Amino acid sequence: MKMNIVSIPGDGIGPEIVAEAKKVLNAVAAKYGHEITFKDVLMGGCSIDAYGEPLTQETIDACKAADAVLMGSIGGDTTTSPWYKLPPEKRPEAGLLGIRKALGLFANLRPAYLYPELAAACPLRSDIVANGFDMVMIRELTGGLYFGPRSTVERDGQQVATDTLVYSESEIRRVAIRAFDIARKRRKLVTSVDKANVLDSSRLWRRVVEEVAAGYPDVTLKHQLVDSCAMELVRDPGQFDVVLTENMFGDILSDEASMIAGSLGMLSSASLNETKFGLYEPSGGSAPDIAGKGIANPIATILSAGMMLRYTFDLDKEADAVDAAVKQVLADGIRTGDIMPKDGDGADLRRVGTAEMGDEIAARI
Ligand SMILES: NC(=O)c1ccc[n+]([C@@H]2O[C@H](COP(=O)([O-])OP(=O)(O)OC[C@H]3O[C@@H](n4cnc5c(N)ncnc54)[C@H](O)[C@@H]3O)[C@@H](O)[C@H]2O)c1
Repeated sequence: MKMNIVSIPGDGIGPEIVAEAKKVLNAVAAKYGHEITFKDVLMGGCSIDAYGEPLTQETIDACKAADAVLMGSIGGDTTTSPWYKLPPEKRPEAGLLGIRKALGLFANLRPAYLYPELAAACPLRSDIVANGFDMVMIRELTGGLYFGPRSTVERDGQQVATDTLVYSESEIRRVAIRAFDIARKRRKLVTSVDKANVLDSSRLWRRVVEEVAAGYPDVTLKHQLVDSCAMELVRDPGQFDVVLTENMFGDILSDEASMIAGSLGMLSSASLNETKFGLYEPSGGSAPDIAGKGIANPIATILSAGMMLRYTFDLDKEADAVDAAVKQVLADGIRTGDIMPKDGDGADLRRVGTAEMGDEIAARI
């Protein structure tokens, strides 16, 4: 298969971790007989330095012409970098919002997986996670409370603020279809999270999700109220497979799920539109505190590249090979600094830098 990938290395550790994801994708291509072309474009702080704006039309056009985008991270130290003296719409993060909008990315996927080797980093009691967990949060990204009309007005001598939670059937349907398609590739369980005992938008959400579910008789659908889901995530995370929810609930629950998975350097993510196109990136930021030192953990970016193989290119065997190589590296005791045990334990582990971690994973493909 020919894969036409645009990469946005970005700022801080971005270029370091993207280089390792490319290394692993090239190893996959060599092993399985695929052909990859990478085109690098600028976005974020580096684009401000080069062109005076965080996102150019050239970058948008290059992304639109690609099959998929592999991103590092953007932004700098928000207290010291001159980028943060600019107005908000000119700062690095504006590039991120702009590219998501320009590409119509409405479904955000964040896997939360507990690696047995890293179980000590999980803040939950060991008996709760004795059997591990492996879930994907699917958050609707372009509707709901964050995008509805808002206002602050003066009334009866005080300020009154209003935000509006709006969802249309088509917005719900397209993200639900994504969730059911993904569940089909996994353990075939969708938990749809809403607040249908209170909100009209949630009652519509529930009805449309049920309509979509009717087309997937092989996938089980469960409904769960958001407050109950927040509790169940820490009581028994192993019960979840695919968790589907709207924008604000997903914002909060996906951070909760990330936290119980342990380290930021391990968390991949994907943002998808209606086609096979997707933007794949680690969940963490540009980590200016460790940029340029060669010590950043590239695993989240490498796992994101694995998601690209699975969701954009439908290459499940190749994606499985990436996941397996990461698991094997951990089982072999190889660690970047952020996933070394904090208590000084770890005499049997080998501490490596960014490039060596990439080499070790690529070698295991
Ligand atoms: N999608 C994105 O590009 C994105 C996301 C979040 C934050 N940001 C930006 O990143 C910059 C820094 O933000 P922050 O410090 O709040 O968050 P951060 O995620 O960059 O860093 C938080 C902590 O995690 C560590 N860390 C993060 N990724 C790591 C990795 N791969 N390996 C090892 N350690 C890692 C960092 O060293 C730091 O100690 C800001 O400009 C912020 O706006 C960008």
